[in-house]
Amino acid sequence: MASVIVHEQSKQFHLTNGSVSYIIQADKQGKLLNLYYGSAVPDRDDFSYLVEYQHRSTATCRKEGDLLYSLEHLRQEYPEYGTGDYRRPAIIVTQPNGSKITDLQYSSYTVSKGKPSFEHLPSTYVNDDDEAVTLDVTLRDQMLSLIVVLHYTIFSNSPIIARSATITNQGTQGLVLNRAMSLSLDLPDCRYDMTDFIGAWARERHPQRHGLHTGIQAIESLRGASGHFANPTALFSRPGTDEIAGEAIGLAFEYSGDFDLHAEVDSFDVTRLQIGINDFNFFWQLDPGASFQTPEALIGYTSEGFNDLSHGFHDVVRNNIIRGPWKNKERPILINNWEATYFDFDEDKLVAIAQRAHDVGVELFVLDDGWFGARNNDKAGLGDWTPNADRLPNGLTRLARRINDLGMQFGLWFEPEMVNKDSDLFRAHPEWALHTPGRAMSHGRNEYVLNFADNEVVDNIYEQMYSLLSSANIAYIKWDMNRFISEGYDITRDAAHQGELFHRYILGVYSLMERLLQAFPDLLIESCASGGGRFDMGMLHYSPQIWCSDDTDAVERLNIQYGTSVFYPLASMGSHVSITPNHQTGRVTPLRTRSNVAMFGTFGYELDLGKLSDEEVDEVRRQVRLFQDYRKVIHRGDFYRLLAPYDNRKAAWMVVSSDRRRALVGDYKILLKPNSPYTRVRLCGLDPQTVYSVTCTGPSTISGKHFSGVELMRIGLVDTDASSGEMGGVNPLGTTEDFDSKLFIVEAVGEQQTE
Ligand code: DGJ
Repeated sequence: MASVIVHEQSKQFHLTNGSVSYIIQADKQGKLLNLYYGSAVPDRDDFSYLVEYQHRSTATCRKEGDLLYSLEHLRQEYPEYGTGDYRRPAIIVTQPNGSKITDLQYSSYTVSKGKPSFEHLPSTYVNDDDEAVTLDVTLRDQMLSLIVVLHYTIFSNSPIIARSATITNQGTQGLVLNRAMSLSLDLPDCRYDMTDFIGAWARERHPQRHGLHTGIQAIESLRGASGHFANPTALFSRPGTDEIAGEAIGLAFEYSGDFDLHAEVDSFDVTRLQIGINDFNFFWQLDPGASFQTPEALIGYTSEGFNDLSHGFHDVVRNNIIRGPWKNKERPILINNWEATYFDFDEDKLVAIAQRAHDVGVELFVLDDGWFGARNNDKAGLGDWTPNADRLPNGLTRLARRINDLGMQFGLWFEPEMVNKDSDLFRAHPEWALHTPGRAMSHGRNEYVLNFADNEVVDNIYEQMYSLLSSANIAYIKWDMNRFISEGYDITRDAAHQGELFHRYILGVYSLMERLLQAFPDLLIESCASGGGRFDMGMLHYSPQIWCSDDTDAVERLNIQYGTSVFYPLASMGSHVSITPNHQTGRVTPLRTRSNVAMFGTFGYELDLGKLSDEEVDEVRRQVRLFQDYRKVIHRGDFYRLLAPYDNRKAAWMVVSSDRRRALVGDYKILLKPNSPYTRVRLCGLDPQTVYSVTCTGPSTISGKHFSGVELMRIGLVDTDASSGEMGGVNPLGTTEDFDSKLFIVEAVGEQQTE
């Protein structure tokens, strides 16, 4: 059970839930300090022995009247600029006289059950008030009447704490907010590795682990979206920590725009972690009476390895971020026509693709790009959300009905934030595309970004989408976004408000998603941004699943999905089986491997089954059946990473049902090695006492045998492949090839005998 233990005398607040403790204190100068964050510790009346004021060097600024008080040496919760702490501050406020100096002092606190949610931003929520406790600490700058409320929510059954800040100008003068971090946390030492998740289009979220060193190590986005290049998440782990053991802290930002996530190690080995809106070119007018709400940051702690930390984040995403009817609901198996047809389709062709998919059990047909406006190629049509008269002369209503008549749901692609110059929308409103007056406009894939900071623009797109979604039975939309902001300038606002554009843009995106969900509460939104260019916890508040990557190659997907799974659950990870040679890499992988990888995600197909042989179609039918049988385990169970793919040799992962009766292990060979060693992989998350049957979908020496959970977890599951070079006949495992894979199906068959 989560609680906040308050010690009025010492002004200490101990947030704990039995697994973690987070202890802060308002000190003698009114500054809020961090005393401890880590595994739960018993409470005591006074933890202030953890704040050390001992004298350090002379090159230090000290408080007048208190020679031992230097902000440079204190571990603060919301540090400020220019008063003796020379590390990055959490907040900077410019005042009418140009000064940026503030002095926020502790003023009061409240503790309440549950958690309030934000009005215009995504945020975690509670299902009932006992699920969390929220501590609000109010800091006040007397001279400016500036109020900062720091929000801390600790969840009962989770290692996650949510943090954010509300900044209010209660004074009579206008202020400018130049920086407002969502979370700042000072840790007492720097023995951490930072793992961030970096990449590019078609190779998103590859983990990059490096030891912290003195100075700043940061990932960020200045693109107007979280981006392919760095995900707004990071791990800070002790050097030996691995998937199953060791201490780690996870940081995640529930926000989809420009971010700054960094660790700053100072000269005294203190590590300051910060996450928030990127302050590069950010300035926000805080008029008298106005408030600014920062997005929410999530911080998690484990002493039991990365898998355990992942479970904490997965649970929070599934239970406290994803909302509505899709919360904890298994996702439909879909077929998407993009790689099957690109722009070359008509109604009959689409229905034929859907029919073949339906015959093998696929549940949802998704019509991708090309159905609207004058979209005959990627140079035209964006912005005009009415059916393309050439390709779909009968409109969408009839197509949707024909798909529904097959017994499938119908879904549709949109790219609401973009416009082509060759579109009616642009011809009518060229000024709605973001541009800087007098300057040339850059384009990405012939697209221009609509000014979603302007409500009039958002209203127009809403009306178009509303009318389209009302015109046909549309159960799902794929919300694409294929380029980032350039020449960012908001022609609807004056110079003083130009620093608000990027944040207001993403607020516009959230508001459109929210309005659509209010109007169509059952709608399933799959977010997408040239693949996984906006895969973040903010998006997950509106779209329960996100297209992981445009790269559908199974081998690349191992890398992408492995990294994605550190913070995001399988039910959120859009993953499809596509045709070979693969359209992104040209690689040829077995159909079973493409499915064995895609199954650890939302699962679907992006091909025309008419192009497969009868044997392959039968194989697809079996894949769909297997997925349907295990969908609940995959989407709601606990996922464990077992063996990372990044050395291109082997990879393994598994998912276990919450009652630990069923599990599915994905076991992948990447590049084969001749005469390779015998191998075993240790499983996780099973019940040690339970006896399980193990069935393998490929050649295996252990298929059909029974093992106790403890054997499978301590000794491991024998997953040796045939050795390459064997011609068959001698080795019962047959032959082998690059990119082969198998699934091990693990089912409880009874309790283990005890003596
Ligand atoms: C990028 C997406 O990631 C693809 O899946 C596809 O929808 C295309 N856009 C369509 O233009």
